[in-house]
Amino acid sequence: MFSNEEREAIYKVISTRRDIRSFLPDPVPKDAVDRVLEAAHNAPSVGFMQPWNFILVESDEIKEQLAWAAEKERRALAIHYEDDDRSTKFLNLKVEGIKEAPLTICVTCDPSRGGSHVLGRNSIPETDIMSTACAIQNMWLASCAEGLAMGWVSFYKKSDVQDILEIPLHIDPVALISIGYTDTYPKAPILETAKWEKRQSLKKLRYNNKWGE
Ligand SMILES: Cc1cc2nc3c(=O)[nH]c(=O)nc-3n(C[C@H](O)[C@H](O)[C@H](O)COP(=O)(O)O)c2cc1C
Repeated sequence: MFSNEEREAIYKVISTRRDIRSFLPDPVPKDAVDRVLEAAHNAPSVGFMQPWNFILVESDEIKEQLAWAAEKERRALAIHYEDDDRSTKFLNLKVEGIKEAPLTICVTCDPSRGGSHVLGRNSIPETDIMSTACAIQNMWLASCAEGLAMGWVSFYKKSDVQDILEIPLHIDPVALISIGYTDTYPKAPILETAKWEKRQSLKKLRYNNKWGE
């Protein structure tokens, strides 16, 4: 079905994709944004419910408000690190680039789409958000293939983002996605380089037949 080159390209995109928080002001071409959204819309979803919407934000004024919501949350979360060292390290981490990135896309999830009995969702209700996460991962891979930088921002109170973007209360603002170009596309996760977290050994995460074996 796929040539060796095509297969290698897929694995290359998967392994080189990074979460980016520093952006250049250059605008993102409209056709590239369209392809990234098309990739999102091709994602799998429980019962094919396609619970997502995409709110494209280019207005500096609205981006400022979203950045305010993220900054407020970042400072609030610092109290979870009682150890001074970890708290300072956390506060020094850049966790979003909303104001810098030319485009922010709020990806939402509508749990009511498809009615009350979406096929397969009765057992695990969170499958709507899982489906939305699949769409976001597709955006991430497509952006990387397009030479675009993308960052996933989840530091915010959902009610703040609902207020700013006038999202109805039953719709879940799952992610704020920053998209743009960058001159620093890192080879390793930023949190790894900042010595916050290491990649775990896959060998230790893999079991045979039963948990722990
Ligand atoms: C659900 C989810 C939420 C995330 N939220 C944030 C965020 O708010 N701020 C941030 O800087 N990175 C965020 N990230 C990015 C992770 O920090 C990043 O994926 C991880 O450190 C691994 O780095 P990599 O994506 O470059 O491989 C998020 C990632 C996921 C999957």
